[in-house]
Amino acid sequence: MPKKIIGFSKLSREEKIDWLSEKIFDDSNQVKSILDNYLNSNKDIQAIHDSFSENSISNFYLPYSLSPNFLINNKNHTIPLVTEESSVVAALSNAAKFWFDKGGFKSKVESFTKRGHIHLSFNGDEEALKEFINNNREYILKSTDNITKNMKKRGGGISAINIIDKTSDLKNYFQLSIDFDTSDSMGANFINSCLEAMSKKIDELSKQYDYFIKSGYSINIIMSILSNYTPDCIVEAHAECDIKDLIDIEGIESEEFAKKMKYAFDIAKVDINRAVTHNKGIMNGIDAILIATGNDFRAVEAGIHSYASLNSKYESLSECTILDNKFRISIKIPLSVGTVGGITDLHPLVKLSLQILDSPSSRDLMSIIACVGLAQNFAAVKSLITSGIQQGHMKMHLINLLIKNKANKDQIKRAKKYFLDKEINNSSVSEFIKSNK
Ligand code: MEV
Repeated sequence: MPKKIIGFSKLSREEKIDWLSEKIFDDSNQVKSILDNYLNSNKDIQAIHDSFSENSISNFYLPYSLSPNFLINNKNHTIPLVTEESSVVAALSNAAKFWFDKGGFKSKVESFTKRGHIHLSFNGDEEALKEFINNNREYILKSTDNITKNMKKRGGGISAINIIDKTSDLKNYFQLSIDFDTSDSMGANFINSCLEAMSKKIDELSKQYDYFIKSGYSINIIMSILSNYTPDCIVEAHAECDIKDLIDIEGIESEEFAKKMKYAFDIAKVDINRAVTHNKGIMNGIDAILIATGNDFRAVEAGIHSYASLNSKYESLSECTILDNKFRISIKIPLSVGTVGGITDLHPLVKLSLQILDSPSSRDLMSIIACVGLAQNFAAVKSLITSGIQQGHMKMHLINLLIKNKANKDQIKRAKKYFLDKEINNSSVSEFIKSNK
């Protein structure tokens, strides 16, 4: 029977590392040295990072990169990105540069409602539940006064309560679907706090509600939680140019490029194999800026992928059209993000990212992120229909192997030329370094 550890969270960092070394590794000094190497030498910064998660024993670094020349709604942005995937930043920067001279990207927030639900079971009918909620609406809303006070000052708050009868899906299942405007915060804590306060009030009031007592009806609150499905928090972005301006694309005429690009986008609309990968390319950019700005990329990923299935079939999120000699790429996605609250107020690099982006509102950030996703998508499909994506990947792979084989600057410069038409693998690279001492 495997042994479980009790009280792990109460152990000190050193004790946790000792436990890990003993359980899994032979050389505890090596483990400790790796973990220590990634601690921040500034104790205050380390304390901030330790505070983010329980049982933390070190930090996990990812590259923090910049992609300049992003013209969005006529404003020139530099985009902070956190990603480990080679070529993502280079591809994005190329796409930004490509579109810069063609008017850049345009983007607009179409809707801004976030939603949470009180999931409950009720043994009466929809009318009785509606009447109860309507009769008690004021008290239910009042229960959130302390929580909504500051949000109201910032223009946010609760905007609607709807009762949804789900009994045809599940016996006795009803939902209170509650709409929120969370202003510049992503709002997860705010929404969940409001929902929990309302649930408590509903539970209390329903137990004293005469009609329910007489009829033997009762509400059983099952759970209260925001939804990461945000189809009413939508942003659109596009870029457009004359087909004749699609120049400087290696080995392909502008007209042929436009047609091939459109065909590739259309394939992603009709085929799930391609749609998922096409959307993954979009998320390469979106996740990277979400992480850099301290946003919950898991929530956004969940929301975006469910939105891709809006037509009861998983589809690509972007489109390419050709009309009157104009080439246009566009995207429409749900994005529930924030620029205040959460780690945006705590993580020094997140604060820096938001400053780099000129302190955007959450609507501004939605626009920026949608454009980053679209640009990343354009860059990926452009590579796929021209040179293929391996060229860029192999360039990074070569540099990684050269560094691993301790190549100096001069050798790296010569290797880049030498390997243009040669196979890149560990032994060919180490052979090159040996013979190029
Ligand atoms: C790789 O991370 C992303 C791509 O596969 C996206 C795509 O195929 O469109 C290149």
